[in-house]
Amino acid sequence: MYCTKKITDDLTWVGGNDRRLAMFEGVYSVPDGVSYNSYLLTDDKTVLFDTVDRAVSTVFFENLAHTLDGRTLDYVIIQHMEPDHSATLSELILRYPDVKIIANAKTAVMMKQFFEFEVDSRTLLVKEGDTFETGHHTLTFVMAPMVHWPEVMVTYDMTDKILFSADAFGTFGALNGAIFADEVDFNRDYMDEARRYYCNIVGKYGTQVQALLKKASSLEINMICPLHGFVWRSHIGDYIDKYVKWSTYTPEETGVMIAYASVYGNTENTAEIIASRLRDKGIKTVMYDVSVTPASNIIAAAFQWSHLLFASTTYNAGIFVSMEELLRDLAAHNIQKRTVAFVENGSWAATSGKLMREIIASCKDMNILEETVSLKSSLKPSQDDQVNALVEALSNTIPQFKPAQAASAETEASVDPNALFKLSYGLFVLSAKDGEKDNGCIINTVTQLTDTPKRLTIAVNKQNLTHDMILKTGMFNVSVLTEDVPFKVFQHFGFQSGREADKFDGSIKAVRSRNGVVYLPDYTNAFISGKVIDALDYGTHTLFVAEITEACILSQEPSVTYAYYFEHIKPKPQPAEENKKGFVCKICGYVYEGETLPADFICPLCKHGAEDFEPL
Ligand code: FEO
Repeated sequence: MYCTKKITDDLTWVGGNDRRLAMFEGVYSVPDGVSYNSYLLTDDKTVLFDTVDRAVSTVFFENLAHTLDGRTLDYVIIQHMEPDHSATLSELILRYPDVKIIANAKTAVMMKQFFEFEVDSRTLLVKEGDTFETGHHTLTFVMAPMVHWPEVMVTYDMTDKILFSADAFGTFGALNGAIFADEVDFNRDYMDEARRYYCNIVGKYGTQVQALLKKASSLEINMICPLHGFVWRSHIGDYIDKYVKWSTYTPEETGVMIAYASVYGNTENTAEIIASRLRDKGIKTVMYDVSVTPASNIIAAAFQWSHLLFASTTYNAGIFVSMEELLRDLAAHNIQKRTVAFVENGSWAATSGKLMREIIASCKDMNILEETVSLKSSLKPSQDDQVNALVEALSNTIPQFKPAQAASAETEASVDPNALFKLSYGLFVLSAKDGEKDNGCIINTVTQLTDTPKRLTIAVNKQNLTHDMILKTGMFNVSVLTEDVPFKVFQHFGFQSGREADKFDGSIKAVRSRNGVVYLPDYTNAFISGKVIDALDYGTHTLFVAEITEACILSQEPSVTYAYYFEHIKPKPQPAEENKKGFVCKICGYVYEGETLPADFICPLCKHGAEDFEPL
């Protein structure tokens, strides 16, 4: 009996789910199963997008026959020749002998390698940018080599703005009755499997994935139909953002992923002690026993976390076998841009540390810490300094906040409660001080949290230097900007980074408050000093909860609101020159000239991403 899902009026999912498969590609465990997606477009012509794995062939052919409803199959587009999508192609041809294959030249070569049927006479070759009319729909083809094999292409339905994305944007996990990602709690129930799928299947090919994302950024996409997992019709930008992060090897979480190999528990004990001491410092940790957790899960975690600690016993004069496999696998998957530390163990000749280091040193942009712990059978109290030095070295590379003491009576006396009435959905200069360095940035997220004691929250983008300074020092000032603030203040604090510029070089007047942090006396009606008591990680931003240690009114000018800024302060975009193609940043007005805006483009002025640009 057929089991299909309607995607649009004339597009139907005709794939199948496999929950009996133990190891996908013979390598990756799939405890929640996997779906093999195939889609049938029933336009004037009937067009199938890929076939399925042999495991679900029975239901696939029933689904196809039911959806065709007596019509013949005119075309099958082969986007990817890996047999989890093409294994049933020869049977498809037996059942529908007149079907024509749409494929690129590389795919045609592979078809001849895999199958015995006559390829050339029934294949319509396409290349980048070619179009194909199915009746009401126009399809165009976009080459996506190495996402995940060299012949891969994706197809864009220009009529309904649907991207058939082959392996890209897929996930492990059977569909369980739903077809759209928004029918399930994807972040809670599927994101870990989506990450594991990405990192293990195409993690090695970040550059090629970025190339596909760049091409996709020029397309208006209403829906993504991948070959595994759910169809995306909402929150597409959020999922693309994940792909931008994963393909650029950017960590999603700040903290330490610890993977250990321990035969009799002594290396594990050391890893536990290090994790415990990191937690005491407020640093997030996750731990995996490489003999228990499949490598694919640990690889996904390594893509997720910013810091990696590998602890391994020495085994046969080398690295413990499952740890060696993991590290070689990680290197093969192109892991990069991480801070890494090692712990070794060896009862008579410890070599695992040196060998682990050599593997990771072959990866790009790794910050390998000198500090290490070398065990002879087990950790001894005399090695406490070694452990602490390693913990300290990790901690020094992770900006953290220091919990504040309760506000003193003297502090309370310096808080003018009326200063808090100046807060609105406004714009603020957030300033901090780390050693001799003063810095500040623009934020629009200051909210009073409680009245007794007086507390506020600020949400700060992790890319800002001010963010890291506040994490480290726990101190900041908020200057509440007023309606007379000139645009140059936004340019000064918002469109350049404190990593390259000295924002308190005297060009904008600044005064120091009791906490030693500067605030702006001009164009502000109040300043508020905060001492951080909690920091909550919200992905791109940290939400700081702070006690107010000082607050003063500086003027009676009205606070500037976000709406006022857009209406009266931000320069209006100049009319585009005729025929000039480009995109304008909605935040600061920067103009990017070009036909297409790369998906991972970051505004050089205000650092906002491509999602904040609109066509000229
Ligand atoms: Fe789902 Fe690369 O095959």
